[in-house]
Amino acid sequence: MSLPKARKINAEKYLPGLSLFRQKYAKVKLSANESALGPSPRAIKEYTKASKDILRYPDADGNFLKKTISKKFKINFDQIILGSGSDQIFELLCKLFLKKGDEVIVSQYSFIIYRIYSRITGAKVLFAKEKNYKISIKNILSKVTNKTKIVFLANPNNPTGTFLNKKDLLYLRKKLRKNILLVIDDAYNEYVKDKDFSSGLTLFSKSKNVVVTRTFSKIYGLAGLRVGWGYGPKYILKVLNILKPPFNVNRAALFAASAAINDTSWLKKEIKHVRRWSKILYYEFKKLKIETNKSGGNFLLVNFNKIKRDSKEIFQKLANNGILVRRMEVYGIKNSLRITIGKSKENKKLIKVLKKLINV
Ligand SMILES: Cc1ncc(COP(=O)(O)O)c(C=O)c1O
Repeated sequence: MSLPKARKINAEKYLPGLSLFRQKYAKVKLSANESALGPSPRAIKEYTKASKDILRYPDADGNFLKKTISKKFKINFDQIILGSGSDQIFELLCKLFLKKGDEVIVSQYSFIIYRIYSRITGAKVLFAKEKNYKISIKNILSKVTNKTKIVFLANPNNPTGTFLNKKDLLYLRKKLRKNILLVIDDAYNEYVKDKDFSSGLTLFSKSKNVVVTRTFSKIYGLAGLRVGWGYGPKYILKVLNILKPPFNVNRAALFAASAAINDTSWLKKEIKHVRRWSKILYYEFKKLKIETNKSGGNFLLVNFNKIKRDSKEIFQKLANNGILVRRMEVYGIKNSLRITIGKSKENKKLIKVLKKLINV
């Protein structure tokens, strides 16, 4: 018996942040940019309530959550799609728009998922060089050819933490050919304080050629439930909603996310905590001569060149002390680690262990 020939997939497998180290759970997990304070108690309550009803299918389209999102952000209900994480929205967009021979542009240190899903369709991924770990619009535009179909960018970007301001984003959309889809990943937008910053959703909710994605995995603390959403022009969203698997967001996730989105005071607490610790860690790293940048997200990218230490060794030693962070080799960022801002106790432990490792 011979099976049909499987298609060759020319894409790498996504490697998630570790939660185990040598088969033991790391006590302090700062490797996946999850929320520091966790989900709103209101979300947990809804999750627990929903657990009593798991024999029932979820609403196939998640209409209740879509209504909540629509009301919260004052956006059109029928231009929203829910995904099993925002990951699934990227996957669906690639499925819908890309085929072999097409081109996608991402920036040099962009979130890895974009290149994976693009390559699975057979499309070619072009990388636009960054300047000081920041997306360069000029370099993105220089990569455009008549085969370009999609430009993906996260704002702020993971793993660099840098972001483009409002003027830059509007300029990029203006200069890109109209029939190129711009996908703006708003995963970390809530954490940015800068007054020149505007989220993709704020800037492009009326656009005809931009799709914006959001997630419940970061600020809302629901990474384990896998919920994200996308917003874009009606004609695209109509097809995406046909393409999406029915029941792609589970029942408990739908209820928990609907509660989380309305707990504004919990979100404010998380934002305040992350901004405060972002500053503290920035200065603590500087004192240790570990280079870092001011991040717009809930994580910091740190480099060990200045102190002539090897990031692999630091990673290992942190892990031996029960602290997991993220290695950056897959992103092509040398001698660096990405560290998520954790709870106060976890951040204090991180500083203490780093000081010990670096001998100051
Ligand atoms: C920039 C960016 N976008 C999207 C995601 C994934 O989000 P989700 O959990 O909604 O799939 C991440 C997760 O690390 C991210 O860093």
